[in-house]
Amino acid sequence: MSKVAVIGAGYVGLTTAACLADLGNVVTVVDIDESKIARLKSNQVPFYEPGLLELVQRNANAERLSFTTSYLDAVPGAEYAIIAVSTPEGEGGEADPVPPLTGDMVSRVLKKRNTQHKASVVSNPEFLREGSAIQDFMHPDRVVVGSHDREAAEKVGKLYAPLDSPILVTPNIYTAEMVKYASNAFLATRISFINEIARISERVGADAKLVAEGMGLDKRIGPYYLDAGIGYGGSCFPKDVAALAAVAEGFDYHPELLHAVMDINRDQRMLVIDKLRECLDELPGRIIGLLGLAFKPNTDDMREAPSIDIAKVLLAAGAEVRAYDPAAIERSRMLVPEVDYLMDAYEVAEGADAIVLITEWNEFRQLDMARVQQLMRRPVIVDGRNIYDPETMRGLGFTYRGIGRE
Ligand code: UGA
Repeated sequence: MSKVAVIGAGYVGLTTAACLADLGNVVTVVDIDESKIARLKSNQVPFYEPGLLELVQRNANAERLSFTTSYLDAVPGAEYAIIAVSTPEGEGGEADPVPPLTGDMVSRVLKKRNTQHKASVVSNPEFLREGSAIQDFMHPDRVVVGSHDREAAEKVGKLYAPLDSPILVTPNIYTAEMVKYASNAFLATRISFINEIARISERVGADAKLVAEGMGLDKRIGPYYLDAGIGYGGSCFPKDVAALAAVAEGFDYHPELLHAVMDINRDQRMLVIDKLRECLDELPGRIIGLLGLAFKPNTDDMREAPSIDIAKVLLAAGAEVRAYDPAAIERSRMLVPEVDYLMDAYEVAEGADAIVLITEWNEFRQLDMARVQQLMRRPVIVDGRNIYDPETMRGLGFTYRGIGRE
């Protein structure tokens, strides 16, 4: 059992805190946001992450997990202080704080505040995905820790000893920091790669979904992160690729591949607009329904969600836009208030000229598509995540367009 302070009650901080508490540690979460802490104290989780509410409640009730707005309550006396705060982009795309050099910055701040302090700074990147963060924490592929102080890095590694995962200790902090950015950039590269293959597939008459399946059967390639679609969003990939590129530029290295990854991803969102134009001739006055808004399923997170750009471009072109998402409507309403937000997919379909599948929530896979087809004014469907079978859709009377498949 260790005493741990976690700074930041976002999805990474809170998941880490609740999981470490569940492993038997005594954890205090500190956040400067008073309303967030007040909600946590009354057993509420301020965002949607599957399983987190139960885990927080169970460990708070067992008095292994507590919440405060005071650093003095949380940090002194703790063996570990885990910093899990958000890292928004600066204007030039650089993360705040700057990624592979963040550890040095933390060390400088600590020294400035207290020249006598005895803390060692360790980089311990998280690899949690929103929507499966608890599962990812409890069953990691690997744990990475790195520090100029090897003993400190090993001590952080011990927190994860009950998890039965390989623990990689890197001999300096920069390597551990790079593992995180290189991993996210590589996954983003796979997505932009398959999206480029999808564009080529469309032109030559291949089906990109099957192309990815065929590639993924090669053990050297593997099937993951090869779903062509409307591109990646979220709080991590867009920011981390941009941050890594900005760091490289800062060292006078122009990272061509990273720039291509970002360019392809930016353009990918607009592909559904081209497809709508092609199916509807023109956009002004057309009623376009969006199924899904969140940047991916099982979250209410709208950060860098492709739906934002798509809705704004359609609105600017004079279309009427309506939408439904099982979790993200409230957040989306704040970002794009001009959209008409509805209660379910069938309401979206009623009288619509086209539907765009934006987020592959399970409930959209189970829809009664014959009913959807009948409700629509024109049965056009642009499947931004390739979840429907083209032949079945055409059989039902839809004009169907996928990504990288016709
Ligand atoms: C990502 C990483 O997967 C985590 O390992 C990492 O810890 C996290 O960032 C982070 O840095 O904190 P996350 O952003 O939650 O996690 O989401 P992912 O499930 O990885 O999806 C990211 C985006 O890629 C989504 O918009 C998703 O729709 C898109 N995607 C994913 C595709 O377009 N195609 C795919 O094949 C896979």
